[in-house]
Amino acid sequence: MSSQTAVKRTNLTTLTKMKERGEKFASLTAYDACFAEMISGAGVEVLLVGDSLGMVLQGHDSTLPVTLDNIVYHMECVRRGNQGAFIMADLPFMSYAHERQALESSAALMRAGAHMVKLEGGAWLTSTTTQLAERGIPVCAHMGLTPQSINRLGGYRVQGRDPAKAQAMIDEAKMLEEAGASILLLECVPVDLAGAITEALTIPVIGIGAGREVDGQIMVMHDMLGITPPSIKLPKFVKNFLPESSDGVRGAFVAYREAVKTGAFPADEHCFF
Ligand code: KIV
Repeated sequence: MSSQTAVKRTNLTTLTKMKERGEKFASLTAYDACFAEMISGAGVEVLLVGDSLGMVLQGHDSTLPVTLDNIVYHMECVRRGNQGAFIMADLPFMSYAHERQALESSAALMRAGAHMVKLEGGAWLTSTTTQLAERGIPVCAHMGLTPQSINRLGGYRVQGRDPAKAQAMIDEAKMLEEAGASILLLECVPVDLAGAITEALTIPVIGIGAGREVDGQIMVMHDMLGITPPSIKLPKFVKNFLPESSDGVRGAFVAYREAVKTGAFPADEHCFF
């Protein structure tokens, strides 16, 4: 297995066409230039400068302490290493509490090199999403388990099992698409619900713990290399790809990308039914 794949530039049009063709795409978090180069060089189409850096880099027990300046710093590092992937950056906790703040925070991330910003939430974000999209800032809406709301959710658990909550998630996802969101990310959602949402939307849907019926997969880089700090409890949707690599860390990124493309990942053991 070769770890060097020709680097192709990925943008929103590329990802939307992949959805239309039924071709899966792979995404991973990245926080620095070195890993951004390796991951994008392995052909992974989307990088996320995620606020998970608060847990895997900074050692916090949640994403809440992460600041906008933290994400800007790591965004600039990732931009320097990137070999053509599409880069999303997280708007961290309380950096988009109202529309003006969302515009200013997003501008800082786009100036640092982001191609898209990601916000956690549902219907309450429709107006913010429209404001951003109208000003040229592509939006990824993050629904399902939203870690910035961990204190309100009461734990890291599957969302949308209750039929009424599942229907609300479908409705809110459609509202966000109509409001101008260009990608939806679903975290910790049962397979059937994620499939129904993916079918209902024309924009690409990326899943983490959301089964195989979505258009793309994402994982935290540390989780798929088996180097997550021991203080963090690993969710069932995580798979370590390092053991099946014939080329160290680079090979693990290639193996992950291939497994996503062929549908070998996620397997049933990584899904919620
Ligand atoms: O911050 C992050 O890494 C994320 C992923 C869990 C999708 O939002």
